[in-house]
Amino acid sequence: MSADGVDLKRRRTLTLATSAVGAVGAGFVVYPFLAAWAPSEKAKAAGAPVEANIGKLEPGQMMRVKWRGKPVWIVFRTEQNLKDLPTLDATLQDPASDDTGQQPDYCKNPVRSIKGKYLVAVGICTHLGCSPTYRPEVAPADLGPEWKGGFFCPCHGSRFDLAGRVYAGVPAPTNLEIPPYQYLSDTRIVIGTDGGAS
Ligand code: FES
Repeated sequence: MSADGVDLKRRRTLTLATSAVGAVGAGFVVYPFLAAWAPSEKAKAAGAPVEANIGKLEPGQMMRVKWRGKPVWIVFRTEQNLKDLPTLDATLQDPASDDTGQQPDYCKNPVRSIKGKYLVAVGICTHLGCSPTYRPEVAPADLGPEWKGGFFCPCHGSRFDLAGRVYAGVPAPTNLEIPPYQYLSDTRIVIGTDGGAS
């Protein structure tokens, strides 16, 4: 008991009890807030890297995988495809991939890839987001005698070569996006992790 008649022992007990209620109360308030902001397992899976097995892909073929809800193309380019790429430079908007937002640094090269043989690109037109069509044939009647294979967007006619570089004079403003990716082995690629050229 203190000089002013207050029961100090009782006051301490009450103070402790109030703090405990406060802490529990705060816990009830804070937890749902955090839970609401924590990514769900589904959201985490949707943003997770995706592995692709390219072992069965043959020259000239393309396979598709889905990463972050977007189509990603993997194209096995032939020796001839690779020889044709530099011959197109004068007809392209950004032949040297100077727009650094469209590819990781390790893909800012003439073939826009880690290994020349395989192109890995997001299959979404940089104009208004349609998905272009893979047109690997040379000089088809509808695309003209200069066509060396590439991607044609049916929505408004944008054209891209087999490195995903956009032609000049079409609606699409930039080259196709190259996602971050790395090789786990000669036949396994993981898309969505930035391991640099390996
Ligand atoms: S969306 Fe591809 S050309 Fe317009």
